[in-house]
Amino acid sequence: MNNFKQYQWLLYCRPGFEQDCAQEVFRHARLQRPVLSQQAAVIPNCGYVEIALNGQSLSIRNLVFSRQLISLHQTIKNLPDRDRLSPILAAIETLPIDFSILWLEVPDTNEGKLLSAFTRKFQPILEDALRARGRLQNTGNQTLSRLHLFFPNKSTVLIGTSDPYNSATSPMGIQRQSMPSEAPSRSTLKLAEAIEIFMDRGEQSRLLRQGMHAVDLGAAPGGWTWQLVKRGIRVTAVDNGPMKGVLAKHPLVEHLKQDGFKYTPRKAVDWLVCDMVEKPSKVATLVGEWFAGGLCKHAIFNLKLPMKQRVAAIDSALDGIKKRLDEEGINFRMIAKQLYHDREEVTVFITRTKK
Ligand SMILES: C[S@@+](CC[C@H](N)C(=O)[O-])C[C@H]1O[C@@H](n2cnc3c(N)ncnc32)[C@H](O)[C@@H]1O
Repeated sequence: MNNFKQYQWLLYCRPGFEQDCAQEVFRHARLQRPVLSQQAAVIPNCGYVEIALNGQSLSIRNLVFSRQLISLHQTIKNLPDRDRLSPILAAIETLPIDFSILWLEVPDTNEGKLLSAFTRKFQPILEDALRARGRLQNTGNQTLSRLHLFFPNKSTVLIGTSDPYNSATSPMGIQRQSMPSEAPSRSTLKLAEAIEIFMDRGEQSRLLRQGMHAVDLGAAPGGWTWQLVKRGIRVTAVDNGPMKGVLAKHPLVEHLKQDGFKYTPRKAVDWLVCDMVEKPSKVATLVGEWFAGGLCKHAIFNLKLPMKQRVAAIDSALDGIKKRLDEEGINFRMIAKQLYHDREEVTVFITRTKK
């Protein structure tokens, strides 16, 4: 007999990846204790998943396919058009904690976008009501939970909270980036987002410094290289394709028309970045060998997802890297995430750490 209380979770993900998101959550949960029911409310292409667990904890850092992790308290269906406020306030009244901030959110889908005008209008009304009741603190106390009101449609709301130490820091779990006009490809947004998501400000200035040297495998036309040279980092760009725009002739860029799987630098570099379209296992082996051979200290790379068994393919690729680095006694931190700017792929960050 299992006496653990059921806890509901609400997770946001890229539309189309709901099954992967749920599968991954259950795998983490099962590692802690048996899961009572593997039934998740998985609606294809809706951009979110609801899951009940019997007391297992979840960590946003370990979840590749989840953009946001919310402890779900209540769902209200059939909200009246004329007064959505009263039932929502009554539900929030029952929550025992106060909040640092209120986020009204919608799914990252076309239907969701149509709801944004409604949430923008509703936000200040609800904020005023919560402030009047002393539930929304204006003290800038970042340790308080965030309050999330998620509207899959205008008449349904899912009310939940997130722990600021175990959740994404942007509304809808989306770290938006604006497209720099000089960058030669939209892929530049992936690396820009990866830097923001995987490294805090201190780490960004320590790990991405002027005068460092990076190798970019599969660099053309140069979106990732652009992010590095903009930070004063020298880049060896490896690709048979052409580097474009300002990167075609840039003093910090050396372009080598070579096979990225065969290229090795003469001297160790600070960074390896890699966006080659290849099987995840092949890219993972390559990255593992670069670290094992002491060729780089940090890496950001993409793993392209197969059509089927996506969670298993990513798990196996990451396990392979971990095993290889463990064999060499290398201490490291590795985080993988399907970023907002990722499509059928996930992005991985590895950094060597001290003992
Ligand atoms: C998705 S694009 C990279 C885009 C790039 N990161 C950017 O921001 O502009 C993939 C690139 O990998 C290159 N590529 C694929 N296989 C490669 C290999 N074996 N060696 C070198 N480059 C390779 C392709 O030529 C292509 O330019």
